[in-house]
Amino acid sequence: MAQWDLTSEETPALWPLIAGDGMAPTGVPIGFDTLSGGTFYCDPLGWVTDESVAVTNPNIFIFGKPGRGKSALVKAIILRMIRFGYRSLILGDVKAEYEVVARALGVEPFRIGPGLQGRINPLDLGPLGLDWERQDHAEIARRTAVLTGRWLTLIRGLVGSQHVPFGPTEERVISQVLRHVSGWDVARSTITPITIPMVWHALDVPTDDLITSCRYASRQTFLDATRGLRDALGALCAGSLRGMFDAESTFQIDWRAPIRTLSLRDLHAEGNEIAVGIALMCLNSWGQGMREVVEPGDRRIVLRDEAWMQTRLSVEAVKALDASLRLSRSDGDIQIVTYHKPSDPLSAGDAGSQAAQIAKDLLHLADVRILLGQDQEVAAELRSLLGLTAVQQNLVTDWAMGWPGRALWMVGDRRFKVQLLLTEIERELTFTNAAITDPVDAAGRSSKDDG
Ligand SMILES: Nc1ncnc2c1ncn2[C@@H]1O[C@H](COP(=O)(O)OP(=O)(O)O)[C@@H](O)[C@H]1O
Ligand SMILES: [Mg+2]
Repeated sequence: MAQWDLTSEETPALWPLIAGDGMAPTGVPIGFDTLSGGTFYCDPLGWVTDESVAVTNPNIFIFGKPGRGKSALVKAIILRMIRFGYRSLILGDVKAEYEVVARALGVEPFRIGPGLQGRINPLDLGPLGLDWERQDHAEIARRTAVLTGRWLTLIRGLVGSQHVPFGPTEERVISQVLRHVSGWDVARSTITPITIPMVWHALDVPTDDLITSCRYASRQTFLDATRGLRDALGALCAGSLRGMFDAESTFQIDWRAPIRTLSLRDLHAEGNEIAVGIALMCLNSWGQGMREVVEPGDRRIVLRDEAWMQTRLSVEAVKALDASLRLSRSDGDIQIVTYHKPSDPLSAGDAGSQAAQIAKDLLHLADVRILLGQDQEVAAELRSLLGLTAVQQNLVTDWAMGWPGRALWMVGDRRFKVQLLLTEIERELTFTNAAITDPVDAAGRSSKDDG
């Protein structure tokens, strides 16, 4: 408790002696609460369990113009939460900037990319595939429902991102294919691990069984009707993405490690942003699968940095992220998503469209939203999408542009004006090219928007 000595003459000036209604000092210290002058603490799970805080899930969305310190903030949270038992999973380190943090913690980062050895199977069974033969019918039915839900969301996202329609017919075909290829049946005690090429092959050389169960009159009608699906899935097995997501995973997560990072640097370096977006979607789905069964007390920070690269692909890609954020809500994981502008997820569709509505809903999947600096042009959407008042908008477009790490923290219905303080070591670990290549931008005085 802070103490001040005041004379009776001075006291009235500070009456009623309240220095802002700060949050309880639990969780990790972040920096200054500049309104109260005290230390601001971040405790997402604690906020969920605290009745007085209107936070129902521990997810965090971070917005900010490039160079404003989104990644630095995430890294500080990751490092500081370690002592509370949180370990981190970085789903798609596009610029390989989390590798530095991983190595500092004694963990070798995992890389996937063109020509590299490592593979991630986005259709991985994950921990749900363990001890399958020992489960009863009810549990097998439950597990298959979870698996097929995840697989369908991913395939819909992949197909939608190639601008191939994915309606009820396609969904039925893919559901049948998944069933045929994995061989699941409540009466059977095994399930076969599946991969994208296996799904593709089943569509390319369909069995009579599959054609009948999909209700096609002939092989030719089946092949004609599923051409778009085949081409869309084929894209994952060719071009830039070849050799990344088309085989069994070679990467096993060591859940005891303080951090696990999957780097996409080599793919990103090729400059094909659509491929990066698709890769992020695959990792997103895979990471979701890895969290479908968790040990009690196994708490994770699951990060999706630069999520705009995924969600601008298509509305189906937005839905895929939406599904992951919703699904692992109950297990205590803190999911962090970073974006440039609040309107980023809306870029997948026309204003007023179904896509825009889904994207708006996505913004409400986190009760904690941190707004680092933005350009003046973004002020209007801060109001319309996040409901900021004029004073709060100004804080984001003016004060927060003055220094990296300055942000408006929206915790449930409360607002805090916070400056993140980095330690010496953190400053080294969070140093990114943003500051080297564009020092003016990093200091927030440039008005150009490279987001
Ligand atoms: N709170 C802070 N104090 C001092 N420097 C910071 C702070 N936050 C970020 N930086 C520096 O600003 C640069 C850009 O930060 P970064 O996190 O990469 O931005 P973003 O992810 O928003 O593009 C980095 O070099 C980082 O070290
Ligand atoms: Mg960043």
